[in-house]
Amino acid sequence: ETATSSRKRDHLVICCEQPIEAGDAGFGDVRLVHNALPECDMDAIETETRFLGRALGSPLFIAAMTGGHPDTLEVNRRLARAAERYNLGMGVGSQRAALEKPELEESFTVVREEAPRAFLCANLGIIQLRDHGIEWAERAVEMIDAQAIAIHVNSLQEAIQPEGDHNAEGSLEALRSLCEEFSYPVIVKETGSGISAGTARVIRGAGASAIDIGGYGGTSWAKIERLRANDSGLADLGEAFLSWGIPTVVSLCEVRTTGGPIIATGGLRTGVDIAKAIALGADLGGMALPLLKPAMKSEETLFAAVEAMHRELEVAMFLTGSRSIRDLSHARTYITGLTRQMIGTSD
Ligand code: FNR
Repeated sequence: ETATSSRKRDHLVICCEQPIEAGDAGFGDVRLVHNALPECDMDAIETETRFLGRALGSPLFIAAMTGGHPDTLEVNRRLARAAERYNLGMGVGSQRAALEKPELEESFTVVREEAPRAFLCANLGIIQLRDHGIEWAERAVEMIDAQAIAIHVNSLQEAIQPEGDHNAEGSLEALRSLCEEFSYPVIVKETGSGISAGTARVIRGAGASAIDIGGYGGTSWAKIERLRANDSGLADLGEAFLSWGIPTVVSLCEVRTTGGPIIATGGLRTGVDIAKAIALGADLGGMALPLLKPAMKSEETLFAAVEAMHRELEVAMFLTGSRSIRDLSHARTYITGLTRQMIGTSD
């Protein structure tokens, strides 16, 4: 068992047994404007949408989580079965462990076996991309026969992880060459600290096809690493950064000004949050923790959770008079509180 692989198992166990969320993504500050006279039939509402040229059953995206340790295989199998059943897009967790040690590939390849038709997204850290180049990106995509690759950026986690990589120099150049040479769409993805308008422009300038904002206010890597830390200095370092990051709603309002497809991830907890994200300019709403917990229990529990999210989304669509996701993207919102203060005070 490698260090990368056992870390994957530690993360899953911590995420299911301990409180690992921090802060506020801002969805409580957003209200969709109620339509008292919706001229539509709730049971005929269509949640189908398109992303990077693919038709999807709904804008619910199964965010990158796991793989890389034998104990993660069952969870990935269930997530993949949900992706197949509801035609959802799905990202796998970082494939680094399996690229280092091909025996661990099974916990990833199971995803394509169980979801032969789904839109799948490979996943690699930008540091691994810089150090191993396009060859690792190609192997990651081939491993699961993916339609796209997400390159995750996670400076906060690297900075506070004992085994983290502290030198990010050369990342942008690596991203630029990947986008130039790769034949699959590249998505740049944060993992809980969000992306600003300025960074989004740099990312789009490098040639990325989409941005997953991975904002603050959901799963917190500062908290996870604080719980993993067995020395108190590292635990204090995690503690000091518990409130670091751009809340998801604020990040979404910044990134949307730069054009191009957006996945909003980080602290979405209901189908109503997905509806709010769409109305604010996202193309898809990603969820990790709210799907991981039911996926750890059983396939039926996971399917029920997905259906509950879809029902909430449909009711929010009905109450805004939106027959389709396109209609919903034009729905009006009120933004209040800290979120409103932060929007427009940046730059
Ligand atoms: C993650 N996330 C993640 N992201 C990524 O790009 N590569 C990865 O390997 C992982 N691994 C991972 C493991 C676990 C257990 C969790 C819970 C999450 C981050 C994830 O995709 C997402 O951006 C954040 O978790 C925020 O969404 P939620 O959890 O607040 O819905």
